[in-house]
Amino acid sequence: MELYQPEYVNVNGEEFRVYLTHEEIQERIKKIGHKLSKDFKEKRPIFIGILNGSYIFLADLMRYVNIPCEVDFLKLSSYGDEKVSSGEVKDLKQIDADIKGRHVILIEDIIDTGLSMNYLVSKLKRLNPSSLTVVTLLHKAEATEHDVQIDHVAFKIPNLFVLGYGLDYAQEGRNLAQIYIPSDREKKEE
Ligand code: IMP
Ligand code: MG
Repeated sequence: MELYQPEYVNVNGEEFRVYLTHEEIQERIKKIGHKLSKDFKEKRPIFIGILNGSYIFLADLMRYVNIPCEVDFLKLSSYGDEKVSSGEVKDLKQIDADIKGRHVILIEDIIDTGLSMNYLVSKLKRLNPSSLTVVTLLHKAEATEHDVQIDHVAFKIPNLFVLGYGLDYAQEGRNLAQIYIPSDREKKEE
């Protein structure tokens, strides 16, 4: 079956175009997967995916990790159905795993203002993991205003609303195999 990867797509009445291709994404994820495999050899890390946005990134990333590891999920909400952050983080699902003394690798889809990650890192550190590593697929560096730990970034992106590859716009667009930006924007700099 073909992946769902049109060049242009209409989501909630707005047009978006490809910004990062499936191949570009896979290439970066593979490198991060291999690096994590080396760094956490014999440490049996726990990957914690932040729902919903990170599920596709996490699933692909884990398939490039070739050491024993575990996976768990938590869910936060800050965007609702809007394109701008509500400025408030809510816990919608907690982790099940006991992370005390464990090596935790947090997997996020995108760090925007940094509010969610800032909140989460302080919260998880209080549970005394042996180490805490933050991996994000995307980082809107210009938009980040909170102090935030980031250890691995697949792509730094401009301050634009993006969707696809797990990221949604009002719950739509997660199944796109690539990352999209509004089509009225400048083409990315090579
Ligand atoms: P932050 O707390 O402002 O860093 O926002 C982080 C969360 O907002 C991410 O986990 C995403 O769920 C969501 N988010 C931020 N920017 C975008 C975007 O461009 N598209 C879709 N979701 C986004
Ligand atoms: Mg998210």
